Formats: sequence, C-alpha cells, structure tokens
Amino acid sequence: MTRKNILVFRELPDDQLARLQAAHEVIVANPRVAAQRPAFDAALTTAHGLIGSSFPIDDALLARAPQLEVVSSVSVGVDNYALSALHARGITLCHTPGVLDETVADTVFALLMATSRRVVELATLVREGRWTQNVGEELFGFDVHGKTVGLLGFGRIGQAIARRAALGFGMPVLYHARRPVDFATQAPELQGRATHTPLDELLARSDIVVAMLPLSDSTRGMIDAKVFGAMKPGAIFINGGRGATVQEDALLAALDQGTLRAAGLDVFATEPLPAASPLRTHPRVTPLPHIGSATHETRHAMAELATTNLLRALAGEKPLAVFDTASA
Ligand code: DGY
Repeated sequence: MTRKNILVFRELPDDQLARLQAAHEVIVANPRVAAQRPAFDAALTTAHGLIGSSFPIDDALLARAPQLEVVSSVSVGVDNYALSALHARGITLCHTPGVLDETVADTVFALLMATSRRVVELATLVREGRWTQNVGEELFGFDVHGKTVGLLGFGRIGQAIARRAALGFGMPVLYHARRPVDFATQAPELQGRATHTPLDELLARSDIVVAMLPLSDSTRGMIDAKVFGAMKPGAIFINGGRGATVQEDALLAALDQGTLRAAGLDVFATEPLPAASPLRTHPRVTPLPHIGSATHETRHAMAELATTNLLRALAGEKPLAVFDTASA
C-alpha cells in the first residue's frame, strides 16, 4: 500500500503513533506550541491525513492542505472543523462517538454532586485551616437524591447521565430533544423514568438543569437570559456540552441575582478560560478545565478509535465513525 503523509496535531499515545508510523510517513507537530508551528505549517502542505483535537481546522487552514483526504478528530464534538469546506472538498471527517459516554457522564455527575454539596468550597475551608467548629446552616448543601434533573440534549451522553440520575439517585428525569426517544428500542431502562418535555416546562420544573448540547448555528448562545429567567428559583446549572451554547454574561447575572444557586462548568466559550473571566473565581461556580473525557482509559480508547478511523480511511476502507458533513 502507498505510504501517505499524516500530520498528528496533538499528542497521541505511543502505541497509536506506532500504528500510524508502521503504515505511513508521520509528522507530529502541535500548532498551539509556537516552536512547533513552522513544522505544522510545512507538513500541512503535503498531508493526506490529519489527526488530533482542540484546534480549529478552519477554511483558511484547509486551503493550505491541497492533498487532504481525511481529518480524524480525537473527540466526539466536531465544532472545531469547517464542515461546509470539508463537505465541498469531499474530505472525510471521522470522530469518536460512543467510547466516552460513561466517562463524560461521570464528570457531569461529579459537578452535579460538587455544586449541590459545596464540595470544593468546603474542602477549601478545611485546607485553609478554617474548620474550627461544626459547620452551621450557612454552609449546608442541598440533597441530590430525589431532585428533578432536566437535560438539554439527550444523546448517548445525556442518556448515560439520565441512568445515573434515575437508577442511582431516584431522580425524576425530564429531557428536551428534537424528538422523543423510543424507549422500546433504545435505553429501555429509562422507560417511565425519563420524560420528553417542552423547554419552558423543563426549566420551570427542574432543580438541576444539565446542558449537553453540541455547538452548531442553532445552539450557539441558546442558553440566554430568557432561559435562565425561566429556571426554577434556586436551580443549579451544569454545562458539560459546549461553552458557547451559553451566554456567559447572562449566566453571571443569573448567579448574581440569585436566580441560580450555583453552576458547575466543564466548558467555556473561550478555552482555556481567560484569566480575566469572572467565572474563574466566582464563589458559586465550580469550574473544570474541559476534562469530560479526560481519564487514562477513555482518552486511550478515543485515540485508538481515531487512529483506526484514519488508517481505514487512508486505505480506502470504511472508517468506524464518520461524521456526516452533509447534514451540518
Ligand atoms: C469531545 O470529545 O468532544 C469532548 O468534548 C472532548 O473532551
């Protein structure tokens, strides 16, 4: 088989890099690192395949990659890619659905528990030597079990969160999605436990609202002042999807006006979160550095799937997970 040129634009585990090197010519260059940028730019001009994540592959960049056949993203989200240009050029876009669902659901649940029970705030109190007497009411948290959770977005990850909530914590689950799920054929364990609900009703009834929305033209900035204003007073807001689905000024206003009790955020409109962002230090925000899928096991599984996708696509075989750029 002809050896092709692969540009790896974010570190891959050694075993996956070795799979690529066995079949193709491989350059590893991270464009986020200034010293590696010239190598990245040079490799782009002859690359047949790109593999990596967390870097915008936009129209201008694609124009500098005339030989490109495949982009294999080590992520499930595809908001970093110029989908129309990929489609117009017939470049295959692969991604990694399925292998990260349970891990991202764990992260979201960690945020849900941490915000409700004030875990970070109270751990900080102990670390700083301020635990000098039994904590009083002003530091009590709120129960998670039995509370109503409202999910915005109900794909595989949303359903994994719903299973934890409904089966583990006895929480009624409401979800808002384009279509109701047919529990006879999908996630039957959620039959009778998760209810397709109009947005306004979900917001008004949920004690905890969890956003798991992909970023697209229709979801950008969708969680705005009106949405926060429609939430139950004292609700908790969690975002494990994409930061730019939320209008962050409106989120801050809802926290400061007391509409929201707290927010747990794994994603932000700009990442890494700028030092000046009030979300970084807000006392009622638990911020995480986009670690939804960041466990050893899951990041390896994602890298392995992305590598397999790329090798198959370059060999003219069907990759295991192709994103349909025509649908975007
Ligand atoms: C994804 O795969 O899109 C995640 O956000 C990466 O952690």
